[in-house]
Amino acid sequence: MTATPVFDPAKDAAAIAATKLVQPGMKLGLGTGSTAVVFVHRLAERVKAEGFALRCASTSKATAELAQSLGLSIETLDEIGWLDLTIDGADEVDPALNLIKGGGAAHLREKIVATASDRMVVIADDSKVVDQLGRFPLPVEVIPFGWEATRLLIERGLAGLGYGGRPVERREKGGAPVLTDEGNYVLDLKLEAISDAPALAMMLSSVAGVVEHGLFLNICSMAIIGQKDGTVVEL
Ligand code: 5RP
Repeated sequence: MTATPVFDPAKDAAAIAATKLVQPGMKLGLGTGSTAVVFVHRLAERVKAEGFALRCASTSKATAELAQSLGLSIETLDEIGWLDLTIDGADEVDPALNLIKGGGAAHLREKIVATASDRMVVIADDSKVVDQLGRFPLPVEVIPFGWEATRLLIERGLAGLGYGGRPVERREKGGAPVLTDEGNYVLDLKLEAISDAPALAMMLSSVAGVVEHGLFLNICSMAIIGQKDGTVVEL
């Protein structure tokens, strides 16, 4: 995780543009995923060059380790209390800035951090911009206790909303369940197109074993979309 990421001009352009939103002394949330990794590298470079202080909270153990290895100081969200800005990646961004997140199984902490911030800004390459959410399988973090029953309840809830399919448990290559930083499991919902995201979010949140789903509705205030030619577009 601490290795320098493979250079991607779109992710790099979005990351560099996002570092310009950071002001000295800010309380900053750091996201998770490959684009967030590029941002943390670029942020650390800027902090080193300009020598200013920041207070950072991380959305995952992986990002915390990376940030600390690059000289950024990490505190818990509870130590900081409230954040000025969170910069994070996304798996899908729609024109209303609603998101699917959780491809890296970090969406629970990501949502807690983003909603404890004055602003959440997404950084992504242009492959993440969609007209309608849903082609990326929607991640849902569930408690291991009774997870098969939770899966069944989600499946029934999906059928009630007109979606087919069975939630798929996310597994490591060796077959063990993927565990989140909180020790929970992840189910991925292959929906193809989400017609009514608030109704889906409400259904998922009503299932007892669901900890959090990856729909981020009305949370993101701006998206910086990097292009292959190194330019950015703001949504
Ligand atoms: C992790 C996330 C990531 O932000 C999302 O998966 C995007 O990752 P990447 O920048 O690697 O495409 O939600 O849970």
